[in-house]
Amino acid sequence: MTKTRDEAWEALALHPDPTLAELFDADEDRVDKLSARLELAEGGILFDWSKTHLTDGLLADFEALAEAAGFAEMRAKLFAGEVVNPTEGRAAEHSALRGVGKDSSVEEAEALRHRMKLLVEAIHAGALGEVKHLIHVGIGGSALGPALAVDALSRDLALVDVHVVSNIDGVALEEAFAACDPATTLVAVASKTFTTIETMTNAHSALKWLADNGVSDPTGRVIALTAAPEKAVEWGVDETRILPFAESVGGRYSMWSSIGFPIAIAVGWEDFEHMLDGAARVDAHFRDTDGRDNLPLRAAFADIFYTRLRGAQTRAVFAYDERLRLLPDYLQQLEMESNGKRVTVAGEPSGPTAPITWGGVGTDAQHAVFQLLHQGTHLVPIDFIASIAPGDELDPAHHHILLMNCFAQGAALMSGRQSDDPHRSYPGNRPSATILVDDLDAATFGALIAFAEHRTFANAVLMDINPFDQFGVELGKEIAKKIEAGGEKFDASTEALLKAAGLS
Ligand code: F6P
Repeated sequence: MTKTRDEAWEALALHPDPTLAELFDADEDRVDKLSARLELAEGGILFDWSKTHLTDGLLADFEALAEAAGFAEMRAKLFAGEVVNPTEGRAAEHSALRGVGKDSSVEEAEALRHRMKLLVEAIHAGALGEVKHLIHVGIGGSALGPALAVDALSRDLALVDVHVVSNIDGVALEEAFAACDPATTLVAVASKTFTTIETMTNAHSALKWLADNGVSDPTGRVIALTAAPEKAVEWGVDETRILPFAESVGGRYSMWSSIGFPIAIAVGWEDFEHMLDGAARVDAHFRDTDGRDNLPLRAAFADIFYTRLRGAQTRAVFAYDERLRLLPDYLQQLEMESNGKRVTVAGEPSGPTAPITWGGVGTDAQHAVFQLLHQGTHLVPIDFIASIAPGDELDPAHHHILLMNCFAQGAALMSGRQSDDPHRSYPGNRPSATILVDDLDAATFGALIAFAEHRTFANAVLMDINPFDQFGVELGKEIAKKIEAGGEKFDASTEALLKAAGLS
């Protein structure tokens, strides 16, 4: 019989609390049961969740929770392009950009992608003259995906040198100016709304820099990436250089749309499409697989187990791969802006929601923050991410040491080591999951990001929250505008700070 949500949570709360060592001793098939490979067109990804505390019993009760939460129905709505963001009455059609979704949305996305392809290829062919640099201005979802993908996939092989500038702090833009030659620089203005103050201010300053440095038609060097093309036209961009995307694509889910223009410019059109293909493979898996075999859903089961049932307040991600050094920043927005909520879809107070996402790269982090992970007092579930194929061409010793350290950390966190000296004792029983890719190529990268997106969605459905709005970011923006407008009194501390900085 189908359980209600409350019954499902009650059943989950009743589970005993064996250690990881006990779980491995009790079930010799544990690794087989809790790890799975997802095959891509070339190579694949191994998802190993065996070093988490998930058990057959927990998985069965989480499956009951998913059923009670209407997971299959919500997922069907997501892929059908129906409203899944009720507070804003919107669909969330990022998968349609990868060819998986409502037919009309997939068609529309294909047409827009074709337009983007033509422009990317024309630029590579010299239609806008010699282009050596691209300054991409955008913030949040309009910056973090492109920055991560360009860094991960192009490195020193970039076809065009791309600088992603997000911060309103002029230091960021000046750094990009210093690295670019104005005569061979294009400016991409990336903003879903084409109103965000940081982006529009940076765009103006980039144009001024071009003009001040002898470029006769600065707006002729601008490519606009936006869901509000009419605003880009008003701003002065010629329609031929405006690459629109659909309103139903959320900012933090938009790197697959024209917001990914700098990715295609840096890595070439073929690899951009491979990135979409890899993501589409995960879309199909997520759409067509039920229960614990659905890998993003399984990951969400573990996430929720730790946040809701074991009180974990953070979740850490360590990529043992320099190419993924920006991944924690990207995941922070994806997970915290999506699921950092305090009320359910119906507006009732919710239980604990998204943990704080943080992380870094291995092995650097081992020499900085791993002390706390091994011996501190916080429970921190960890994801390790690594690639079997190296990203470098140096002595293979580099990559062997990298991988061995990655696996050693997961083993050490789990096993711990007892000592008579409490200072030298490691409690162990600390959970981690490992994502091991064959090779971090464009398709694999796309698959990793789509996995993270669907995991975030699955978490939200199980927690009964809306992952697609972000009203929490508005209040601070409004107060900043009021400060700028002047004439309003704030609290005594804020008033004193404004005075100290000469702003009042
Ligand atoms: O402030 C948050 C936010 O709205 C993000 O959700 C979004 O990705 C970012 O700002 C940038 O918005 P836009 O793309 O409209 O400039």
